[in-house]
Amino acid sequence: MTPSPLSHDEQAIGQGYRENFDRFNEVLHATKYDRFLRFFNFGYAPLEGEEHYGPPLGRNYPNRDSALLLFQVVGEADLTGATVLEVGCGRGGNLGLLMEHYDVGRVFGTDIAFNSMAYCTDRYPAERARFFQADAQFVPVRTGSVDAVLNVESSGCYPDVERFFRDVSRVLRPGGWFLYADLMARTFVDRYREVFTALGLDVVGEKDVTPNVAESRRLRAERQRLAFGDGKAPEGMEEWVGADGSTLNDVLTGGKGAYHVFRCRRSDREADPAQQFTDEERGEMTLSAAEGVELLRLGAPGA
Ligand SMILES: C[S@@+](CC[C@H](N)C(=O)[O-])C[C@H]1O[C@@H](n2cnc3c(N)ncnc32)[C@H](O)[C@@H]1O
Repeated sequence: MTPSPLSHDEQAIGQGYRENFDRFNEVLHATKYDRFLRFFNFGYAPLEGEEHYGPPLGRNYPNRDSALLLFQVVGEADLTGATVLEVGCGRGGNLGLLMEHYDVGRVFGTDIAFNSMAYCTDRYPAERARFFQADAQFVPVRTGSVDAVLNVESSGCYPDVERFFRDVSRVLRPGGWFLYADLMARTFVDRYREVFTALGLDVVGEKDVTPNVAESRRLRAERQRLAFGDGKAPEGMEEWVGADGSTLNDVLTGGKGAYHVFRCRRSDREADPAQQFTDEERGEMTLSAAEGVELLRLGAPGA
């Protein structure tokens, strides 16, 4: 077996997220909502008078805020017939929406959590959707073979996010889409744009959706906390749902974090082989990924 180029600490971070998300699946599995809970993201709520992308959805559409987030990330990208790969796909809700509303071709989902992959394999039609366990920092897909890579609220878990961005640049065909959203340190937004450009990913659309994601949390966090535990949410669930007063909610609403959407297209340019993020930036991102593992540990069932 080839030794992993990731350091021991970086590998431990991956293992930590795998355990956390596998455990979260077990918690959800024990609730009566299990089959409806197909997203692990903070969602998007349009502000007063704001239009949103995508088809109109009824007020009671299941996981409405997560659907609106996906529509915002796709924006004006035409995905008709596209082969789509979602990296860090969780329970596959985003790919389900793409199959339902965007007339995409085949879709592939990968995630580090085994239980999420088992959930997806059971629930989506195998003729259209395939799922496999993989680490985002080693995307096991042929060079230039996909039309779109989707990545929603997952990259903050990767200790070496540049390694992932390089693989995105590698697997996309020229003209292909990189549809990306995450909560990041606000100071990194401009740097991400620069790094994408250096890797041959031209930013063609972007939006800071922090207020919309914060609004989604304000409206939904408490209801989700109760649903995710069938009324007995395990200790630590506040972070998973971004409840008021949680560390993640403070990052989102306190100015330090930006929830940012980038839509990029793969150009014909070769990716610059030189390391793009400085050692200091890499250190900061790895530390933040490690802190996330601790925040997202779930304890015993609560009251
Ligand atoms: C907040 S969830 C988002 C899931 C999904 N994108 C969604 O919108 O519902 C983050 C996901 O990233 C996955 N993840 C964390 N670290 C990963 C890694 N190194 N490689 C692949 N997936 C990873 C987790 O297992 C989890 O499913």
